[in-house]
Parts: sequence; C-alpha cells; structure tokens
Amino acid sequence: MDLIGRGNALKSLALVLAASRWATADSLSGSARTERYWDCCKPSCSWSDHGRFMGDPVESCGIDDAPLTDFTAGTGCNGGSAYSCATQSPWAVNDTFSYGFVGVYIDRRTEDHWCCSCYHLNFTEGPVAGKTMIVQAHNSAYDTDIDDNKFTIAVPGGNTSFAGACSDQYGVPESTFGVENQGVRTRDDCQNLPEPMIGGCMWRFDWYENAENPRVDFKRVSCPSELINITGCIRRDENDFNSTSSASLTRSTSHSLVASLFMGGALAIFLQLL
Ligand SMILES: *[C@@H]1O[C@H](CO)[C@@H](O)[C@H](O)[C@H]1NC(C)=O
Ligand SMILES: *[C@@H]1O[C@H](CO)[C@@H](O)[C@H](O)[C@H]1NC(C)=O
Ligand SMILES: *[C@@H]1O[C@H](CO)[C@@H](O)[C@H](O)[C@H]1NC(C)=O
Ligand SMILES: *[C@@H]1O[C@H](CO)[C@@H](O)[C@H](O)[C@H]1NC(C)=O
Ligand SMILES: *[C@@H]1O[C@H](CO)[C@@H](O)[C@H](O)[C@H]1NC(C)=O
Repeated sequence: MDLIGRGNALKSLALVLAASRWATADSLSGSARTERYWDCCKPSCSWSDHGRFMGDPVESCGIDDAPLTDFTAGTGCNGGSAYSCATQSPWAVNDTFSYGFVGVYIDRRTEDHWCCSCYHLNFTEGPVAGKTMIVQAHNSAYDTDIDDNKFTIAVPGGNTSFAGACSDQYGVPESTFGVENQGVRTRDDCQNLPEPMIGGCMWRFDWYENAENPRVDFKRVSCPSELINITGCIRRDENDFNSTSSASLTRSTSHSLVASLFMGGALAIFLQLL
C-alpha cells in the first residue's frame, strides 16, 4: 500500500478513535425508551447519598401527602413511612410542552450520574411525536435486561404499584389504581383516584394522548426553577455538567483509555500487515 493509502487508513482510525471517545464521554444525551410508572414508593433520589447534591435530596411525603423533613425515613414500599409526593406529577404548559418527573436509567451508569438532573425530551413516535417535555430525574429505573436508556415518566394512576404502597399511602383499595401494566383505563377512572393524583392522571389522557411507551431523544439541560422548586433537589454539577461532571469523567477516561490501548494495538497489527 502506498503512503496515501496508509495516510487514509490512519485518518479513518483517528476518526474511529474520536468517535469512540465521544460516545463514551457523552452519556448526557441520546435516544431512550419510555414507560409510565407511579408506585408511591419513596423515590430513589430521595436518599442523600444517591447523588452529589448541593443540599437536600428529592422531597418525599408521608401518608397524608405532606412533605417529610426526615430524609432517612424508610420507604413505604418496605414498611417505612416515606412515600412519593403527588406534587411530582406532570403538567402541560401548552399543547406541545409539558413539565414532569422521571425515573432514569442511562446504559451502564449508576444513579450518581442522573439523580436530580434535568432532561429535555423530544418524543419521536406515537401520538405525541413532535411534543417535548423538560423533566427532572427524581427516581432511578435500573434495567439490566436492556442495552438501552430508559425514562419512566411519573404519571399518577399510569401503571399499577409494585407493593401496594399507593393503597397504604391513601388508605384505598389497590384496585383503585387500575390494572397491571396499564393503570387506570379511562380518563373518567381518574376521578376515582385520591384527590392529589387526579390532575396528573388526566394529563395522560389529555396532553399525553394515552401514548404507549413512545421513544424519546434526550439531552441534559439546566434545571428550571419550576421543577427544582417542587423536588427541592439541586445537583452540585448543575452549572458545569457538560465540562466537569466528575461522575462521567472517571468512567469516560478509563473507557477511552481502554479504547485507545485497544485501538493502538489494532493499529500496530494493521500497519504490520501493510
Ligand atoms: C408498567 O410497568 C411495567 C413494569 O415496570 C412495565 O413493564 C410496563 O411497560 C409499564 N407500562 C407502561 C404502559 O408503561
Ligand atoms: C410552549 O411553551 C414553551 C415553554 O414556555 C415555549 O417555549 C413554546 O414556544 C410554547 N409553544 C407554543 C406552541 O406556545
Ligand atoms: C428537540 O427538537 C428541537 C427542535 O428540532 C431541537 O432544537 C432540540 O435540540 C431537540 N432536543 C433533543 C433532546 O433532541
Ligand atoms: C421558585 O422559588 C423561588 C424562591 O421561592 C421563586 O423566587 C421562584 O419564582 C420560583 N419559581 C417558580 C417558577 O415558581
Ligand atoms: C457547555 O455548555 C455551554 C452552554 O451550552 C457551552 O457554551 C459550552 O461550550 C459547553 N462546554 C463544553 C465543554 O461542552
């Protein structure tokens, strides 16, 4: 192979290297699947050590839906006294834009990476294609079965609870919250929910058009006060997450180092073959 050919080969290897480095460093945006959930459990980002927070973690509530000040209280899904707050429900600003709260799983990351981050979501399919949301990660949606990112949108009555925690929190039968994997069936069924859950339940049939797990494009953005004022949670990297997020730095550095070593070895073998 002549020198020009070798130069081109080097150039494409450099491109592959750059691409792999970029892909691992940038886990603040991408494509993801969505689900609906509302399990009434204390959200995972309500524990102080589940993220690097400037002050308090995500607010949780008692059985009366009143905010708790004790962030060490155990989850109502396991006999404790802390539940989710109905204020962390979605709401529409206009026909194409809503605010809300989500459980997040970013592929091969841990919740330190997302707890209390905010994301811009563009729906790319289903009846809501073209609509957008800005959401705050108040919970985690770990899923090791998938090689994908996941956002579970917190929608009251939007899915059944896992442990009957909603029934405990509001003192109503579990059937009030609908059927497995679906939640309530119709907009009218929302009226049977505990009062604080009704508005968010209707959002699903109005703005969200009862969409079934549409995919989204996501990108981390600065949290608007509309959301922070509700959860009370601010990350320490809130103002510099795209440059100095240490959570992503550690991982991406070691990742790209391994990638570089691997690609360097491949390059040496490749050049010997020329
Ligand atoms: C309800 O939750 C289950 C379990 O996480 C999930 O498999 C399902 O997709 C959810 N349903 C919707 C409509 O999101
Ligand atoms: C909806 O609200 C968002 C946020 O305030 C705004 O950026 C957007 O322009 C609005 N869209 C319409 C169609 O009014
Ligand atoms: C969503 O779409 C808008 C308009 O095309 C674009 O400006 C924005 O960057 C997109 N956001 C994401 C997260 O892809
Ligand atoms: C959030 O709370 C702050 C402090 O109370 C207030 O100044 C601000 O207007 C609030 N933002 C929104 C969008 O309500
Ligand atoms: C971080 O984001 C800001 C605002 O979007 C941008 O001006 C800046 O170039 C970004 N920095 C890096 C290192 O990406």
